[in-house]
Amino acid sequence: MQNPDQIVEMSDEEFRAIRDYINNQCGLYFDLPSKYLLEKRLSRRVHEHRLSSFKEYHYYLRYDKNSVDELNKITDILTTNETYFYREAYQLLAFKDEILPEIHAIKKDKKLTIWSAGCSTGEEPYTLAMLIILSNLFSDWRVEVVGSDISQRVLHAARRGIYSDSSFRTMPEEYKNRFFTKGDDGKFHVIDEVKEMVTFGKVNLLDSKMLNLIPSIDIIFCRNVIIYFDLETKKKVVENFYEKLNDAGYLLLGHSESLMSISTSFKLKHLKNDMVYQKPLIEDSLKVLKGGD
Ligand SMILES: C[S@@+](CC[C@H](N)C(=O)[O-])C[C@H]1O[C@@H](n2cnc3c(N)ncnc32)[C@H](O)[C@@H]1O
Repeated sequence: MQNPDQIVEMSDEEFRAIRDYINNQCGLYFDLPSKYLLEKRLSRRVHEHRLSSFKEYHYYLRYDKNSVDELNKITDILTTNETYFYREAYQLLAFKDEILPEIHAIKKDKKLTIWSAGCSTGEEPYTLAMLIILSNLFSDWRVEVVGSDISQRVLHAARRGIYSDSSFRTMPEEYKNRFFTKGDDGKFHVIDEVKEMVTFGKVNLLDSKMLNLIPSIDIIFCRNVIIYFDLETKKKVVENFYEKLNDAGYLLLGHSESLMSISTSFKLKHLKNDMVYQKPLIEDSLKVLKGGD
């Protein structure tokens, strides 16, 4: 009987083969110094399937009839899912006090669609729904907040909407009182008014077919997700975001992220509370192409 905690040694060649496959399938990129991390996190998978090496595991991952399930398992294991409510407060202020009023003033169809791409356990899309309610602007609009992630494990938690203290490290107490009830389990349950605004789905940001299921969007939040991707993948994902956004729609990245060397399609807009990316209006793009001001 194999010891499930025993580390299976991974050669550089095995590392590259598995790393490249994962990179192709879901964008996550591991450099050679992180070989020990793959070795440590994936050894259990080798034992679980009673394989004797990572060479065999690589083969299993690619060609076994259960390879899709296995890929799902390892995305659950390898993704970083750190998140919390009200993350990056100044950006959320820009969202509530500047972007939402602008969209409210401009859009005639009274439809607001927001996508939290890489939403992890749901704190981000629920925060956005709460801020929409607090803005008091959209009570007679059709509002949809879509949260998506590649990992089923985090989506399961997101749909439950039940959280412990660690999710509240930066959320103002008044919001916590307004939007959660405390359960007998001592945990905080998102109230129905918020839950009803948010839908969750599994979307791999690299999978163009799945992206077709996403409607056209007014604002995309993709924070602390593409930092784990290689440059080519970042470019592809941001290009897809561009396609999905309505004209003048917004793309909000994490505070340490920028589109530098990734895309020149967006314009950087200086708001009072933050700098954000915006898809230019078609007329503005044509002016730039023609060399006008
Ligand atoms: C660090 S969390 C960010 C959560 C949230 N956006 C925030 O900033 O608090 C990154 C999330 O991106 C997801 N992710 C990684 N690769 C992905 C892919 N190819 N498609 C969709 N989601 C992905 C991970 O599963 C993880 O839950």
